[in-house]
Amino acid sequence: MTKVLVLNGPNLNLLGKREPEVYGSGTLAEIEAQVFALGAAWECEVVFAQSNHEGELIDLLHAAMEDTDAVVFNPGAYTHTSYALRDAVSSIGLPVVEVHMSNVSARESFRRQSVIAPACAGQISGFGANSYMLGLKAALDLVKDAS
Ligand code: DQA
Repeated sequence: MTKVLVLNGPNLNLLGKREPEVYGSGTLAEIEAQVFALGAAWECEVVFAQSNHEGELIDLLHAAMEDTDAVVFNPGAYTHTSYALRDAVSSIGLPVVEVHMSNVSARESFRRQSVIAPACAGQISGFGANSYMLGLKAALDLVKDAS
């Protein structure tokens, strides 16, 4: 069975409370439940994780090399700053789909650049919680196309 890691970076644990005018009122646990339901419908195993710590995100990406087929990754603000996460994405040899709830191109100028996206298969941005569902679909299609 295809296995996908859905990985979340800093501050995403606060979804629901955090800037609801930008990110909506849904929680990360609700997104997790939706992603699991979709994974079950598409017969894939989903592992869902969140960390506020760059090194832990790197460790989770490394661990994914063992048994995971693809990654859906919302790196939060590390998107715009973390060469270490970009190198981790480049190093693991798995297809990674970068996702964002907000439309990062329509916000502050510092959000318009992702240092991680060039190492990813692609980026999905601006569809709220649905960005994760679209990311899961893209990740599964990449795995299917590669097999
Ligand atoms: C985000 C966009 C980032 O710029 C921001 O730092 C986040 C959330 C999003 O999902 O829209 O933490 O990744």
